[in-house]
Amino acid sequence: MFKRQQDVANPGDDIVIELDGKTVTVPAAVSVAAALLYLDAVPTRNTLVSGAPRAPFCMMGVCFECLIEVDGVSDQRACQVQVQPGMRLRRQLSAQDGDIT
Ligand code: FES
Repeated sequence: MFKRQQDVANPGDDIVIELDGKTVTVPAAVSVAAALLYLDAVPTRNTLVSGAPRAPFCMMGVCFECLIEVDGVSDQRACQVQVQPGMRLRRQLSAQDGDIT
């Protein structure tokens, strides 16, 4: 879905993080939301009431559609947090997807 621009990408700058218990490699110095889109890891959460899938939308901290658990702290705006080596991310998916937040 989303690809890195070749003139910006520097393979040596990749870092390793954990997403839903799996080790993944993402570009360094990007937001968690950008990393999730890069990994095509959408939806990033489901709404509590209807279970509707959600994913980063505004990428500037306004819409709150990108909420995710970061290092054990839930409801963090993924677009406002930069990826760090070893960071543990967990998508806040509903029971309909087999995972309860
Ligand atoms: S994408 Fe809108 S608040 Fe993060």
